[in-house]
Amino acid sequence: MSIKPIASTNIVWHHATVTRTRREAQNGHRGAIIWFTGLSGAGKSTLAHAVEEFLHQGGCRTFVLDGDNVRHGLCSDLAFSAKDRQENIRRIGEMAKLFMEAGIIVLTAFISPYLAGRERVRAMVEQGDFLEVYCDTPIEICETRDIKGLYKKARDGQIAEFTGISSPYEAPKTPELTVNTGAAELQICVQQVIDEMISRGIINSASFNFIQDATDL
Ligand code: ADX
Repeated sequence: MSIKPIASTNIVWHHATVTRTRREAQNGHRGAIIWFTGLSGAGKSTLAHAVEEFLHQGGCRTFVLDGDNVRHGLCSDLAFSAKDRQENIRRIGEMAKLFMEAGIIVLTAFISPYLAGRERVRAMVEQGDFLEVYCDTPIEICETRDIKGLYKKARDGQIAEFTGISSPYEAPKTPELTVNTGAAELQICVQQVIDEMISRGIINSASFNFIQDATDL
């Protein structure tokens, strides 16, 4: 899907004096987009919120953007066709970028099934700003969990274009991190994400001295 040209004319970018760098210096950590992707029921939201809890306790400024929530407001006009999902992810990407420029660590939990859509968001920001976390829970496990009862409905033909059943999911080829959300303990997955963020310089391990490790959550 091509990116639409800007519809407005005669618009001029205004540069802020309070820059991202100044905001990050005040926060004591970098802004970043931690992009969780995976099937419905893979554990994206659970993990994103658990990572946020840990970061918040460590004094970081964070926000979680969650698929089901965003579809109640900003994206309430979108359904689940390929076109609508691409538009959903485009809007989320733009919003996540704004949060990041505000110095915030934004954690996004969307199926985001298309490689191209995720790569488009990656390309919107500088290298190192976008950390893709693949929540690698096989469909059999998601379907067994079926917390929202949607897999059953999809199998019964009550939901069309359901990811993994009647709509594709394109797994990341080279994500920054793959977490075994199908089998590993939540705290282990949290620790992996935190370690990755530290190794990439998004947060500083010194800020987390008062929590020994994520298993203390
Ligand atoms: S995305 O494909 O556009 O990234 P998004 O993450 O916003 O999807 O929304 C997914 C959530 O919507 C699922 O967790 C599920 O609760 C709900 N949902 C409802 N219909 C569908 C569908 N056809 N396919 C996938 N998820 C659906």
